[in-house]
Amino acid sequence: MDAAQALASLMSPEGRVDPYPAYEWLRAHGPVAAAGPGLYAVTGHAEADELLRDPRVQVLDDNLRDGVMPQWRDSPALASIARSMLRTNPPDHSRMRRLAAAAFTPRRIAGLRDVVTAQAAELIDTLAAAGRDGRPVDFMTHFAYPLPVGVICALLGVPAADRPLFRRWAADLTGVLEPELTPDELASADAGATELRRYFTELVAARRRRPADDLTTALVQAHDAGDRLSAEELLANLVILLVAGFETTTNLLGNGLAVLLAHPAAADALRRHPEHAPAYVDELLRYDSPVQLTTRTTAEAVRVGGVELPAGSWLLLLLGAANRDPRRHPDPDRFDPWRAAPSPLSFGAGPHYCLGAGLARLEAQVAFPLLLRRLPELVPAGTPRRRIRLTLRGYDNLPVTVGRPA
Ligand code: HEM
Repeated sequence: MDAAQALASLMSPEGRVDPYPAYEWLRAHGPVAAAGPGLYAVTGHAEADELLRDPRVQVLDDNLRDGVMPQWRDSPALASIARSMLRTNPPDHSRMRRLAAAAFTPRRIAGLRDVVTAQAAELIDTLAAAGRDGRPVDFMTHFAYPLPVGVICALLGVPAADRPLFRRWAADLTGVLEPELTPDELASADAGATELRRYFTELVAARRRRPADDLTTALVQAHDAGDRLSAEELLANLVILLVAGFETTTNLLGNGLAVLLAHPAAADALRRHPEHAPAYVDELLRYDSPVQLTTRTTAEAVRVGGVELPAGSWLLLLLGAANRDPRRHPDPDRFDPWRAAPSPLSFGAGPHYCLGAGLARLEAQVAFPLLLRRLPELVPAGTPRRRIRLTLRGYDNLPVTVGRPA
């Protein structure tokens, strides 16, 4: 199979549900494989890491965007993502990122541990109640979704009653992160973006009238204080913070629980030794990453992994494949929480390295040991349903039975 066929297979519905075979077909063409005119698929860990840190490798700017998807300016979803820090190059990127970064310092994140623990404990009670009498319950609905939403909404100052609104809107909007999009998917993403932007327009007005001790107020004040954040950037970054803050972590909790339940001995060891949670979480991130890819272009010619990438190349950086690069991780298809250094690329690298990595790790490090200890009889119940998404990999539905709480 040539690299273009391997890539087509990755993009198929089957490939999106289980990308790992297609990653190996691509890897057979080298860590940086030419997969179409001007298109390169990167499966190597060292190569993806190097490219993400290289200043000549950038996210699409407006001019390039006009070339590849001219409709982006008319699409609320594409335009909103384009104006956020996620898809902006320096110096705009550094300016926006700095404004939000104060909320995510290691000290601020460590200070959230008690809040996260309390929310997780409360959700475990709800999960146990919903699953009493041996009824199967959906882990995604009762735990994996509400925990990260609750935490990011508390940071942003979104009222608790509004949290159920976001699941659908965010799931629709994040369709635009897929490498290929149908017109129907773009229409849903636009509808999701419009709702989210309407919601945050109202929240911004409310915080302007009455400031609070939250991240929304901090960003509103950065906008109002001068030219540090335009009105459009303010909305775009609030939306990206909310969406990036839970879609991904929800999938870490779902993907991670499924792996732990499939490896009962490892789960049992974590139950007895919760202090090993950081190593477990990093191996779960490596083994089945909630974010499988990101994209870049080359502003100049770049040589990597023995391959010359001309200026203007389009790069598909397959983080989920890099995480299973056998040159970096021996026996990569094995879940092994005792690995010396899992070093997942799941949070990216370089200037766009995930702003919420510490928060996502904290949530998972608190949640998994607590779930295993409080629900020692937790087991899968029936066949889970994967989302047909490549970029943000997760479950639509993950049925479990909870047994008797400890
Ligand atoms: C960026 C993954 C959780 C906020 C990123 C990137 C990745 C990523 C791969 C870089 C994208 C690129 O380079 O193109 C993840 C994963 C998470 C997670 C796997 C959970 C397991 C969070 C959380 C937040 C967050 C909890 C909290 C708000 C962001 C933001 C960016 C980002 C704002 C853009 C940073 C920038 O462009 O400078 N994330 N993320 N993420 N993430 Fe996360």
